[in-house]
Amino acid sequence: MKVTILGAGAIAGAHADAIRGLAAHGGPDGVELTHVVDVDARRAAAFAAEHGVPHHGTDLQALLDAGLVDAVHICTPPSVHLDAALAALRAGAHVVVEKPAVLSLAEADALAAAERQAIDAGLPGRFTQIVQHRFGAGIQRLRRLLDDGTLGPAYVAQCDTLWFRTPEYFEVPWRGRFDTEGGGTTMGHGIHQFDLLLAVLGPWTEVRAMAGRLARRTDTEDVSTALVRFASGTMTTITNSAISPRQTSRLRFDTEAATVELEHLYGYDDASWTVTPVAGREDVAEVWAADVALTRDGGASGHLAQLVPTYRALAEGRTPPVTVADTRATLELAAAIYRSAFTDATVRAGEIVEGDPFHASMAGTGTPWPPVR
Ligand SMILES: NC(=O)c1ccc[n+]([C@@H]2O[C@H](COP(=O)([O-])OP(=O)(O)OC[C@H]3O[C@@H](n4cnc5c(N)ncnc54)[C@H](O)[C@@H]3O)[C@@H](O)[C@H]2O)c1
Repeated sequence: MKVTILGAGAIAGAHADAIRGLAAHGGPDGVELTHVVDVDARRAAAFAAEHGVPHHGTDLQALLDAGLVDAVHICTPPSVHLDAALAALRAGAHVVVEKPAVLSLAEADALAAAERQAIDAGLPGRFTQIVQHRFGAGIQRLRRLLDDGTLGPAYVAQCDTLWFRTPEYFEVPWRGRFDTEGGGTTMGHGIHQFDLLLAVLGPWTEVRAMAGRLARRTDTEDVSTALVRFASGTMTTITNSAISPRQTSRLRFDTEAATVELEHLYGYDDASWTVTPVAGREDVAEVWAADVALTRDGGASGHLAQLVPTYRALAEGRTPPVTVADTRATLELAAAIYRSAFTDATVRAGEIVEGDPFHASMAGTGTPWPPVR
């Protein structure tokens, strides 16, 4: 399978390393990183030299037309993702796109329609998105213990992405703008953690949120907070921040049998989890520990952990584990946070439909603060 990386910037190296590591970690043989493409020819050339990629260039479409791409990893700024994904799907190539996959629910719907058309036309290409934290052993263990009833129902959850980004971070031209980044710290940072919340708790029903631009010179928010009720009844809080000096990424689930906590920054392993059972349910901690003892590679999350099952599925003609519907569900929660924050109203699941300004853009009816540019 011939793989091209599109966009040779900061995150592309994680893709190159993971593609290289596939076969040694249980992925299929024969997945080969053949090309790197960037609008900036020098960046493509430097990346190719650093990562030993045989070919580099500036024109993805030419490679697709020549039949040289079986899968493309889209690592460009978010505003480029949709067009690149549509071009790849039309050419029959698989799409592995970085978060946020696209800028809006309208774009997610266009993506879903394109994948459906490709499938109907008998083309092999499938869509998937990088959400690497869904693939650490701890999240999968937590899901299993909730699904089989060991933990009992989840009553309360907290989901915090408290990160720190300097003013210089936002000087990159595509950052800090709704039209190029999709949103601020909610879309750019918190999305990792609340995607996990959705992966564990399933569908949400209502959101009340606030957003602020407190400290950075951006059009987008640098803080958002939300109260979210899930269909299961679980009540949760979400905090997303780009201006928190002691950085952490944190999830906490209070279930009937135990409090289960994850604390990490940009990736976790089994040591990042704490399980505190209620009196009389020490069996939960024992079940957790027994599973940890059986887990290979320390249970690390990351691009490799996601790409192994993804490429196994692609090689066998199966749907990859993260689908366009998963992508849309996470973007719908982001859109609901923006709509609730910017319109001062409760937002219910399924309410943001075509014709709603928050369907077309996360900025929706506009921010409560003036744009800086
Ligand atoms: N999964 C994660 O943990 C993670 C971490 C960081 C970034 N990301 C995501 O990865 C994506 C890229 O982020 P980054 O920090 O690597 O950005 P970056 O700015 O460092 O790199 C982007 C690259 O894309 C190139 N590019 C821009 N427009 C292009 C086009 N039309 N065609 C081809 N190349 C083009 C740029 O020249 C640059 O080399 C974003 O969506 C970001 O949110 C994900």
